[in-house]
Amino acid sequence: MTNKIYFEDLPNIKEAKKNLSKAIMKEKESVGYYNLPQFDVSSIDEFASRIDDKIEFIVVLGIGGSSLGAKAIYEFLKPVKEMKRKLYFFESTDPLNILSLLSKIEIKKSHFLVISKSGTTVETIAVFKYMLSINKNMGHYTIITDLDSPLDKFGKLKGMNIFYLPCNVGGRFSVLSTVGLLPLALCGVDIKELLSGAKKIQNSFFEDAYIKDVLFKKAFFYAKHHSTYHINCIFAYSETLKYFCQWYVQLWGESLGKKQRHSAFNVGLTPIGLIGPKDQHSFLQLIVEGTRDKSMTCIKIDDFKDELSIPDISLEELESLDILNGLEFHDLINMQCDSAMESLKILKDIPIDEIIVPRVDERSMGELIYYYELLTSLVGQLIDVDTYNQPGVELGKIILKNKLSEVRK
Ligand code: PA5
Repeated sequence: MTNKIYFEDLPNIKEAKKNLSKAIMKEKESVGYYNLPQFDVSSIDEFASRIDDKIEFIVVLGIGGSSLGAKAIYEFLKPVKEMKRKLYFFESTDPLNILSLLSKIEIKKSHFLVISKSGTTVETIAVFKYMLSINKNMGHYTIITDLDSPLDKFGKLKGMNIFYLPCNVGGRFSVLSTVGLLPLALCGVDIKELLSGAKKIQNSFFEDAYIKDVLFKKAFFYAKHHSTYHINCIFAYSETLKYFCQWYVQLWGESLGKKQRHSAFNVGLTPIGLIGPKDQHSFLQLIVEGTRDKSMTCIKIDDFKDELSIPDISLEELESLDILNGLEFHDLINMQCDSAMESLKILKDIPIDEIIVPRVDERSMGELIYYYELLTSLVGQLIDVDTYNQPGVELGKIILKNKLSEVRK
């Protein structure tokens, strides 16, 4: 991937760059996601080779970091790749959503992956209980959780298949571990290619090459201007990136919206995920003429590997649009992206950059994921938050559990 940045490097920050490098190297000793490109996939391959060919549906029961990453990758690849099995995600306690998803799968041809790092997430366990009431065969379930979590203990009691995530890998940074790799491998996604994409970015970053330069430039800019440009929009010019945007929103929001470590201030950067060209007809106006509080990153796919084109037809009264005739759709969508970017560049007060993803394939997605994880870590360090916790969501969970206990009395 390439990343073109259209705003200036901050001056005189050599020392600050050195300190940031040091802080990240220190963090790398204890934060597990940095090393996930080296994840050993042999047990995943072995499990995938054993699973019955009659299984047509892989069903993930999980939420947040336990589902969004695999969903982003699966939905990115789905239009171009013939999947071995269909992948569905039960991520909600919305009864209509549960029933609608159930109507899409055949229970007897499904293998269920119950994914929860903590092993106690209400949404996941509620749906798991419901599934167990329909299908009691424990052989049809596999658990992915932390060692010794309550879910792990349950699984052991019942003799279930269990996989673990490295304990130092947090939920929203876990897509390149068993959490994302197992469901994807069962559907035929080339997980080694995915990891090799991530590894390419890892090498470029830790060997002080191209990616480190661009990431540092962006991170320092976002951090310096975090109270002005506090809304960071991704404008992705492909429908395939719709769920990647959801993954980004969780990663950025849950990691960077916090009380600072060394002050009592609350800080945060607000992620927005947009899809072009659709959102040119909705959100773009707000970026162009609204308050100057937004940065924009356009993501473009270089090679769609598709030659679908607009027919050479002239329509009466619409002759002015004959300029479209013969144009391939992939050229049109990328020209739309370029035109939107140019219109913003002219304004000069909207920070803008452009990521070019080579193709719709595993390697490209591995690169994009690891790039965004690194960017999140860098900005987290610079705005002085603990990127890897989420204390803000705990109180709501406690209140819910109290309410549920009251209802049981
Ligand atoms: O990133 C996180 O840590 C969270 O979003 C979790 O992934 C989410 O709350 C689900 O938690 P768990 O995997 O413990 O069920």
